[in-house]
Order: sequence, then structure tokens, then C-alpha cells
Amino acid sequence: MRWLITGAGGMLATDLAGLLDDAVALSRAELDIRDKDAVTRAVREHRPDVIVNCAAWTAVDDAERHEEEALAVNGHAVANLASTGARLIQISTDYVFDGTARVPYAEDAPTRPVNAYGRTKLAGELAADGHVIVRTAWLYGASGRNFVKTMIRLERERESVSVVADQHGGPTWSADLARYVATLADAPPGVHHGTNAGQTTWHGLAQEVFTLLGADPARVKPIPASDYPVPAPRPAYSVLGNPRLRDWREALGEAFVEIQAGLVAGQQP
Ligand SMILES: NC(=O)c1ccc[n+]([C@@H]2O[C@H](COP(=O)([O-])OP(=O)(O)OC[C@H]3O[C@@H](n4cnc5c(N)ncnc54)[C@H](OP(=O)(O)O)[C@@H]3O)[C@@H](O)[C@H]2O)c1
Repeated sequence: MRWLITGAGGMLATDLAGLLDDAVALSRAELDIRDKDAVTRAVREHRPDVIVNCAAWTAVDDAERHEEEALAVNGHAVANLASTGARLIQISTDYVFDGTARVPYAEDAPTRPVNAYGRTKLAGELAADGHVIVRTAWLYGASGRNFVKTMIRLERERESVSVVADQHGGPTWSADLARYVATLADAPPGVHHGTNAGQTTWHGLAQEVFTLLGADPARVKPIPASDYPVPAPRPAYSVLGNPRLRDWREALGEAFVEIQAGLVAGQQP
């Protein structure tokens, strides 16, 4: 099975490339997925059976002011990858939902994004029609910036941190997601939810990080989202049903060891 991974260097792509060690992993400098001719050339050269599209505009707040540019990557470019003849695994997001639900969203629940990033990712889902779409959420891992690494840093720097306690989601370890994606080469087309099971809030996730650090979780203070204004509104509840991966706490416990080891080895938190 020949794999091609786009967006190499990103958090998920790094874990996936580490797992599929004979995969071709191309960074943005090596393959800009917006360039249809470049996509055609890459597919002709590497002849992949499966393309995993890990490339994305992931700056959720910046997307509010740059929606067209975000759409070019998250929406239009996906059409370039969907029409090569290779199978496509398109990575999508819980932010395609509006957050008004109170039970986990089914794969076929109606979508209604509340921010620009979500709208562009939904356009990507539509462009990947007929292929495999894996929605994930609240990703963290050993590479790249992410919430878990930020909390590890803030525990060192501050006596207390205030964290949003009224947004609910499913924190997901990128390495668990990579292992799941690696099983999907022959999966039937359609939407698959790829998150760790269970749910918490950003506050709950931060408290768990503090606990793993041996710090007092009461140093993490709960605040409403309205006290932490950001350009892009977030859904208040974006838990995905049928999550496929193990419980989020168990995953975080194992991830924590790897992330700490990486930090000791000099990766930026
Ligand atoms: N992170 C999360 O919490 C989260 C949650 C839900 C879903 N997802 C989805 O999961 C997937 C992986 O996310 P991630 O957190 O691993 O992303 P990431 O770390 O931000 O990596 C994205 C990669 O895409 C590259 N890229 C951007 N524009 C490109 C282009 N035009 N052509 C080729 N590459 C391009 C980026 O390169 P540069 O670094 O050079 O810009 C970066 O290496 C994405 O589809 C994302 O939407 C993520």
C-alpha cells in the first residue's frame, strides 16, 4: 500500500509519517495542495493508493479575517486531492457543528458551523464526497503547539491559570488518531469520527494536565468563554459520537510521558 501524506511537519502528519515509515510525506514547501498541477505531478511521481490530507489552515481565529485564504486550503484544495484517482482520507473537525446539542453528534447529524474555520472545513468535507472523512477534535501531541503543551508551560510560569469551563469536547491524542487513520486504507467512503472517547471542558483538560504534573488542579480556575474573548466563536458542545478511540484520560496519561520526554529533549512547549 503506497501512502502519501500532505501537510508534513504538522502535528498529525508527523505522527502518521512516524507510523507509516515508507509513506511519502510532503510539506507545504514540497507540495502546496492549492496547486492542482503540483498535486497531479506528485501523484504521477509517487503513485499513491491512499492520500491522507493533513494539510490545513488550522489558525481558527485568523480564519475569521482571512476566510477566503482559509477556504482555498481547507475547501478548494481538497477538490484537487479528491480527483486524482487515489483514495483520499480527509481530516475534518468537530467545528462543523454549532454546539447546540447536549448529546454527542452522530456522523450524519446536520452540520452548521459557527465560525469561518468550520465553514471552510465543511467545504472540504463536501469536496471530499465519495472519500473517507475523519472528523477529529481538540488535538494535542508531541509536536507543534497545542493546548496540553501550553498548560505544561503555564503551570511553571503562573501561580494560577483561568481556563474556559463552558465548552465541551473530546480531547484527542494525535498519535491515537494516527494509528486509527492507518487502519482506514480500505475503509468505505463516508464520515468517521476519530476522537478519544469521553468528554470534558478546556478547564477539565487543564486540570488533568496539572494533576499529571503533580500540581494542585485547584490552581486552574474555571471561567466562562465570555471572559476569554477571541475572534472566532467556538461551539459550546462539540462532542463527537461513535468516537472510535480509547478514553481521553487514559490517552492523555500515556501521551503525557511522550510529551514530557520531548520537552526535556528541547522541543518548545
Ligand atoms: N489541531 C486541532 O485541534 C484539530 C482539531 C480538529 C481537527 N483538526 C484537523 O486535523 C488536521 C491536522 O491538524 P494539525 O493540528 O495536525 O495541523 P497543523 O499542525 O496546523 O498542520 C497543518 C499543516 O498543513 C500545512 N499547510 C498549510 N497550508 C498548506 C498548503 N496550502 N499546502 C500544503 N500544506 C499546507 C502547514 O504548513 P505550514 O506550517 O507551513 O503552514 C502545516 O504543516 C487538519 O485537517 C485540522 O483541520 C485539528
